[in-house]
Amino acid sequence: MFELDRYLKERASLVERLLDAAVPGSEGPSARLNEAMRYSLLDGGKRLRPILALAACEAVGGAIDDAASFACAVEMIHTYSLIHDDLPCMDDDDLRRGRPTNHKVYGEALATLAGDALLTDAFGVLARSPLVAPALVAQTIAELSEAAGSRGMVAGQVIDLLGEGRAMELAELEYLHGRKTGALFLASVRGGARLGGATAAEMESLSVYAKALGLCFQVVDDILDVEASTEQMGKRTGKDQAHGKNTYPGLLGLERSRDFARELSNRAIAALSNFDGRAEPLRALAVFVVERKL
Ligand code: IPE
Ligand code: IPE
Ligand code: MG
Ligand code: MG
Ligand code: MG
Repeated sequence: MFELDRYLKERASLVERLLDAAVPGSEGPSARLNEAMRYSLLDGGKRLRPILALAACEAVGGAIDDAASFACAVEMIHTYSLIHDDLPCMDDDDLRRGRPTNHKVYGEALATLAGDALLTDAFGVLARSPLVAPALVAQTIAELSEAAGSRGMVAGQVIDLLGEGRAMELAELEYLHGRKTGALFLASVRGGARLGGATAAEMESLSVYAKALGLCFQVVDDILDVEASTEQMGKRTGKDQAHGKNTYPGLLGLERSRDFARELSNRAIAALSNFDGRAEPLRALAVFVVERKL
C-alpha cells in the first residue's frame, strides 16, 4: 500500500536539499539579503507545490530529475508570495511556518527585497533546467510567469485585498481563490507533467485534477483559519474574519465548506481515472489536502 506520510517526508527532504543548492549561501556582499531569503525558504513548509510537480512528472512516466529545477522555482515563488502576503501592508502577520515572519526579523525593506529576489531568481533556476529540451523549458517559463503574475496569483492577491469588507458572490470568490492559490497549483502540476513528457490528453486530465485540488486547498485553508489553532498551523488563525476577508466558511458556513472541499478532492481523483499506479501519489495528495490538519 502507498504510504503517504513516508512519501511526504522523503520528498520534502529532497526538495529541501534541492532548494539549499539552488539559492546563494548566506555569505558574500549580499549576505544579509541571502540570509533573509534562506530564512523563509529553508526549514519549513509542507512543500506541497514542488511535491506535486515531481509527482505529476512521474505520473506521466518522467524522471524526477527532469522537474527538479522547476520544483525549486515553484517553491521559491510560493515562498516569495508568503513573505509579501505577511507584510503589514497586506495581511500583517507576525508568524509563519512556526517562526516570526520575515519582516519581523529582517525589517520590511529587506523582506520585500528578499521576496523580489526569490521571485526573480526562480525564473533563472528554471531557465537553467539542464536535462530538458529548451522548448519545453520555455513553455514552462511562460506558463509559470502567467500563473504567478498579473493574470494569476498577483491578480488574486489584489482581488483578495480590495475585497476586504465587501461581501462577494460565490462565483467571484471562486475566481479569487482560483487565482491567488489555484493558479500556482495548476502551473505546478502542468509544469511537472510537461517536463516529464506528458501527452496532450494527460495534460488535459491533470489540469482538471489541479484546478479542483487548488481550489480545495484554499477552501481548506479558509476552514483551518476558523477551526485550527495558531500552534497547530504555525501561523495566526482566526484572522480572516477579523480582516473582513472573503472566505468559503464566511459565505457557505463550515459544514457546506467541508462538503465542497470533499467534493473537490473527489473531483480531482476522478480526473486521474485513465492513469495507472504511477499516479497513486497524486491521488493520495488529493486526500491529504482535504484531510490535512496543518
Ligand atoms: C499557504 O500555503 C498559503 C496559501 C496559499 C493558503 P501552504 O499551506 O502550502 O504553506 P506552507 O508552504 O506549507 O507553509
Ligand atoms: C495566501 O492566502 C495566498 C498567497 C500567498 C498567494 P492567505 O493569505 O489565506 O494565506 P495564509 O492563510 O496567510 O497562509
Ligand atoms: Mg492573504
Ligand atoms: Mg495571509
Ligand atoms: Mg489563509
